[in-house]
Amino acid sequence: MREEVTHKLRADFSKAREDMTIDFDWATFTKEDHAMWRQLFPRQMETLKNRACKEYLDGIKKLGFAEENGIPNFERISDKLQKLTGWRLVVVPGYLPGDVFHTHLSKRQFPVTTFIRTPEQIDYLKEPDIFHDMFGHVPMLAHPVFADYMHAFGCGGVKAHKHNFIDFLDTLYWFTIEFGLINTPEGVRIYGSGIVSSKGESIYCLEKRPNQIAYDLKRIMRSKYRIDTYQATYFVIDSFEQLMESTKPNFLPIYQEVSKLSSVPIGEIIPEDKVIQRGSDPQK
Ligand code: PHE
Ligand code: FE
Repeated sequence: MREEVTHKLRADFSKAREDMTIDFDWATFTKEDHAMWRQLFPRQMETLKNRACKEYLDGIKKLGFAEENGIPNFERISDKLQKLTGWRLVVVPGYLPGDVFHTHLSKRQFPVTTFIRTPEQIDYLKEPDIFHDMFGHVPMLAHPVFADYMHAFGCGGVKAHKHNFIDFLDTLYWFTIEFGLINTPEGVRIYGSGIVSSKGESIYCLEKRPNQIAYDLKRIMRSKYRIDTYQATYFVIDSFEQLMESTKPNFLPIYQEVSKLSSVPIGEIIPEDKVIQRGSDPQK
């Protein structure tokens, strides 16, 4: 996830390089770390049956997550990813400043942290851990179109920082990469990383009647969102090609246009929305 978090205990950037990456020996993960992964992985795979999109589940297969039998080995996953879509993983101590994060994406490098949640945090944690980064984000990077979207997003991020429009792009990140849903012949499915790494939200977003609204780039950029609990509204794409195509234009005029429009409060539906499902309680 990309919300502002504090890493009082974990994040130590003192040994990091200028690009904020660190050398990390995968062998330093403890038995307990791997045990936590082994608890989370099958539980979440079960939850994602008929909930996650095919592209995500294909990524899990192509990268061989099930065979890793613990926290996946970074080198092995990187090598597989590189062959599939040209992406590699880089290790970072924790949450990165936005510009540094986007610069990594613009180089087809995905930053992952090394900390894994404790047993007390199994169902809720505020900071992104290795389960979120690796299980949540990495499988989608094995999909060619999505991999290109992430890369274009990074380049767009570098540009948006320069022009002070990063908030609009952060909102797009939130409602696609983190909390996106996709329409499929079998029904609405999950592709967002913030959802797939959360058991509760995987069920909530599909079955507990939040708003589901058809994807619309400018509408998303105008939307407020919350970072402390499940989303009131999810945006649903028809295909990854649609997502990619919609982000091809130069965003500078779009940012300018959107900055003149009023923002849409959390959970609100506006007349222009193509509503797929109206939430039973927009504030819940
Ligand atoms: N087309 C966008 C721009 O000109 C860049 C971008 C691509 C942003 C993909 C998000 C996703 O800024
Ligand atoms: Fe994330």
